Amino acid sequence: MARYARGVVLFAALAIAAGYAWVDWNKSGPGDGLNSRLWQPDPAFGYWHPTRFYQYDGQMSGQFKGEECIACHEALTPGIVADWRASRHSAPKGRASVTCEACHGNDHAKIRMPDRTVCAGCHARQHDEFLDERRFGFPSHALAMERAVDAPHFADKPKAEVTACLQCHSVAEKCDSCHTRHRFSAAEARRPEACMTCHSGPPHPDDDTYFASAHGKRYLADADKTDWSKPLAKGNYTTPTCAYCHMAGGKHQVADKAIWKFGLLQVNPLTSNNEVKRKQWVAVCADCHPADWSRQRLAEMDAERKRAWAKLNATEATLRGLRGAGLLHPNVKERPPYPLDKPGTWFARERIGYYDGQASAFYNVSPIERDYFEMWYFANLGAYKGAAHGSPGHVGQGHAGMDMAKQDIQARAKALEQQDKPPAAGRWWLEGEYTKHNREQN
Ligand code: HEC
Ligand code: HEC
Ligand code: HEC
Ligand code: HEC
Ligand code: HEC
Ligand code: HEC
Ligand code: HEC
Ligand code: HEC
Repeated sequence: MARYARGVVLFAALAIAAGYAWVDWNKSGPGDGLNSRLWQPDPAFGYWHPTRFYQYDGQMSGQFKGEECIACHEALTPGIVADWRASRHSAPKGRASVTCEACHGNDHAKIRMPDRTVCAGCHARQHDEFLDERRFGFPSHALAMERAVDAPHFADKPKAEVTACLQCHSVAEKCDSCHTRHRFSAAEARRPEACMTCHSGPPHPDDDTYFASAHGKRYLADADKTDWSKPLAKGNYTTPTCAYCHMAGGKHQVADKAIWKFGLLQVNPLTSNNEVKRKQWVAVCADCHPADWSRQRLAEMDAERKRAWAKLNATEATLRGLRGAGLLHPNVKERPPYPLDKPGTWFARERIGYYDGQASAFYNVSPIERDYFEMWYFANLGAYKGAAHGSPGHVGQGHAGMDMAKQDIQARAKALEQQDKPPAAGRWWLEGEYTKHNREQN
């Protein structure tokens, strides 16, 4: 009996070890996130994701006091020292100044790039609020890095096309996104320009929609005359900025009130959870507008979303119909695999829309799928931000784009349904230079 038990234990021990070796769980790759084995970090990633990738590889060594750092860097990097001198860190009220070594360490050979945990040492409240944002799910600043590195196309597209992802998504890792180093100014962060580097571009035209709104117009008219040193609180400002609305009261969270999830998802604004968030929005608007009036304005955004989703759902149904009839061309077996799929994956099928995997949206897909992606990702998201930020022009433009795409896709779907047999797709679809390049170079 004992011998029998020993055998079982031995077998289990071997099986577990073999399992680890086979799956290779015990070591992760040089990158980060779910696909860390499939990519190598670039040197710049050390600054965007310092916790994971920064390592000092310069020539300097030796231990220095704050004044010594400043004296040498005054000549070497005068802009940094000037910014630091202009900051609250150089002359805080009632305590010694926060010099270079407080953030970077005093041993030059082991200089660190300060991630958010370094700031947390002295600014626990802001850091705690920031991390607490995680419970609202994506999109959120606190989850931004994992959203980027876990995205399949991040690992599978050519490096040059995805390097910038981490620059914007670094907002999760360090605190110099809105108050830039080394001035670390709260006044700077209160202004809309603080958000612009990242909140711009076709899928998230927050800058364009804001500046086209009545709020943005007022900001442009008044910015120079405004005292930006006041906290973001009722009565201190007549015009709302990005931070006034999204970080009301200076709370270091941007995800606690938003329900429409970047415009990518169809949500029900009437769930009890969303009603609570909506009340919080109305409270922000009510710093300046009547509450009922504000609630109606936000309901107009919901109505815009309802119209948008009717169009998107109808178009997505057309594509699913084509897939069901085997009419998407070139089909999934005739073209480069989706990100992280192997060529010839079993049971491969076209992934249409968000829930099937938005990865398809970024890759070499059939032209009609790409058109749907552009409808969904650019026209739709532009219309959403127009509605959220009060820019009627963007709403009109986005819906005109969606209407055109919908008609076009339906006309082409009809043509595909009527055609006997689609022409053969060329081999280049499967083995394109692009596909091979990605897999070898990342
Ligand atoms: C005697 C001159 C000197 C002193 C003192 C000095 N540094 Fe430097 N530091 C340099 C030089 C030169 C470089 C750039 C070249 C290099 O990294 O090898 C540099 C680079 C840096 C960098 C950039 C590293 C990177 O990878 O981008 C940081 C941060 C830094 N120093 C912080 C400090 C801090 C903090 C102190 C004080 C503890 C300090 N330095 C003291 C000369 C100095
Ligand atoms: C309050 C914290 C803090 C203090 C104080 C501070 N730094 Fe920095 N420093 C940062 C942060 C944050 C970064 C950006 C880290 C990253 O990109 O990952 C940075 C980056 C740098 C860099 C490299 C990137 C660049 O902008 O060139 C240098 C060089 C540097 N600091 C020098 C200094 C010197 C010199 C001092 C003192 C005059 C100083 N720092 C004081 C927080 C600080
Ligand atoms: C060693 C402690 C310490 C560290 C580390 C530190 N700070 Fe500070 N910070 C302070 C002090 C002290 C003040 C000034 C408070 C005052 O004057 O009342 C301050 C003020 C600030 C302000 C307000 C400036 C304004 O315009 O009102 C910001 C923003 C800020 N810090 C950001 C940061 C960031 C970001 C980091 C990390 C890169 C950081 N701090 C790291 C101690 C620190
Ligand atoms: C360094 C880049 C960067 C800066 C600067 C930045 N953000 Fe963001 N922001 C992001 C990224 C990246 C995301 C999406 C994160 C994800 O993948 O979930 C995001 C998401 C958001 C969201 C969506 C939250 C939700 O629940 O839908 C809001 C709102 C937001 N940011 C507001 C702001 C405001 C306001 C500012 C300026 C005060 C700002 N951001 C500055 C990068 C930035
Ligand atoms: C210009 C800055 C910027 C760049 C570059 C950028 N993003 Fe983002 N990303 C954002 C912002 C801002 C949001 C949030 C938009 C919103 O909520 O309206 C976002 C949202 C996201 C989301 C959350 C929405 C979702 O689909 O779940 C993911 C994932 C994402 N980005 C991945 C990436 C990847 C991968 C790359 C590189 C191919 C990338 N981003 C490049 C700024 C950027
Ligand atoms: C999305 C933009 C954004 C990011 C990211 C951000 N901040 Fe701020 N920060 C602001 C704004 C806006 C204010 C002004 C708040 C106000 O007026 O009440 C501010 C103010 C501050 C202040 C001054 C508070 C006061 O009462 O004077 C500190 C300290 C601070 N931030 C630290 C941090 C730290 C630490 C992090 C990283 C965990 C961080 N910030 C990340 C936008 C940001
Ligand atoms: C008057 C207040 C207000 C101002 C000013 C404002 N926003 Fe918004 N923003 C909103 C509202 C309301 C929504 C819709 C949120 C929801 O319920 O989903 C929104 C949505 C967003 C979203 C998408 C959030 C999501 O989950 O769908 C981002 C990102 C964003 N705004 C960024 C910005 C940036 C960056 C600026 C400045 C250029 C800005 N906002 C200015 C009120 C404002
Ligand atoms: C800090 C004050 C302030 C806050 C907060 C604020 N607004 Fe405004 N809003 C203004 C000012 C000022 C104007 C321009 C003057 C006007 O048209 O009343 C304006 C104009 C508008 C307009 C255009 C009015 C028209 O008749 O064309 C709309 C819509 C609007 N705001 C909606 C909102 C919503 C929704 C919120 C909350 C998400 C909000 N505002 C938050 C100050 C504010």
